[in-house]
Amino acid sequence: MLLDAAIRTGGPLAVAARGGLRGGERRRLGLERIDLYQFHWPDYGTGTPVEESWGTLDALCHEGKVRWVGVCNFTVDLLGRCEPVRHVDSLQAQLSLLSRHAREELIPWCRANGTGVVGYSALASGLLTGGFSPERLAVDDWRRRSPAFQEPKLSQALALVDRLRPVAGRLGASVAAIAVAPALAVPGVTGAIVGARRPTQVDDWLAAGDLQLGDEDLAEIERAIQETGAGTEKAPQPPGVSR
Ligand SMILES: NC(=O)c1ccc[n+]([C@@H]2O[C@H](COP(=O)([O-])OP(=O)(O)OC[C@H]3O[C@@H](n4cnc5c(N)ncnc54)[C@H](OP(=O)(O)O)[C@@H]3O)[C@@H](O)[C@H]2O)c1
Repeated sequence: MLLDAAIRTGGPLAVAARGGLRGGERRRLGLERIDLYQFHWPDYGTGTPVEESWGTLDALCHEGKVRWVGVCNFTVDLLGRCEPVRHVDSLQAQLSLLSRHAREELIPWCRANGTGVVGYSALASGLLTGGFSPERLAVDDWRRRSPAFQEPKLSQALALVDRLRPVAGRLGASVAAIAVAPALAVPGVTGAIVGARRPTQVDDWLAAGDLQLGDEDLAEIERAIQETGAGTEKAPQPPGVSR
């Protein structure tokens, strides 16, 4: 089993996490050891040097509480500061057809340094499923306020989804599987985290793991991205933090 636990920041919280992992937290999880423990976001709030927080995770590994440690949403600069302290086992980065920032520098850095890459939000939080429409969002759903769900980005994303339909038809796959597969095909990517609200949703895209997209399929999808203007090359912003 791979348990992916994330801590929300470094500094004092990393120290608190270390205390928790000594006993209570692991007991509650029924685990002797956490397989993969990742920072949820860089610490933009406390001023604690990342080397200090990362050193705490290194100590957890030495104590046998954690097997592998990783980070989420780090920049190449932060990864480069962590690596001399302790090898970065994994990077969790936003990666989908609509969020392509990680492809430029982050994933190549991980390839060069032997760091696994787990892409998150491969379906762009539901936009790329082939069944999305704004009406299905509850009035208090956070996506109603998310930039990716505002015009003109919303219509561009749905236009891209329409361009995935012929690829899906040709390969006998669902649109959702066709949306996830390109993230898995990026050289250096180890896996993708795909979310689901119900088990039947999983059935819809699970085949993405076995889907082999050819060069022509990938080129067609890239062309569709360019022609629709869907998505962004910008890095995701931390929730509620302005930099
Ligand atoms: N480290 C980070 O900063 C960070 C940030 C975000 C996420 N993550 C990780 O990534 C995980 C997934 O994130 P995400 O929810 O954004 O992932 P996602 O895979 O992009 O979107 C999942 C959502 O798409 C919809 N969906 C899934 N399958 C569907 C189907 N077959 N038909 C129709 N709709 C379908 C569901 O929402 P609806 O049914 O409600 O539309 C589901 O919750 C999170 O749980 C978390 O572990 C990490």
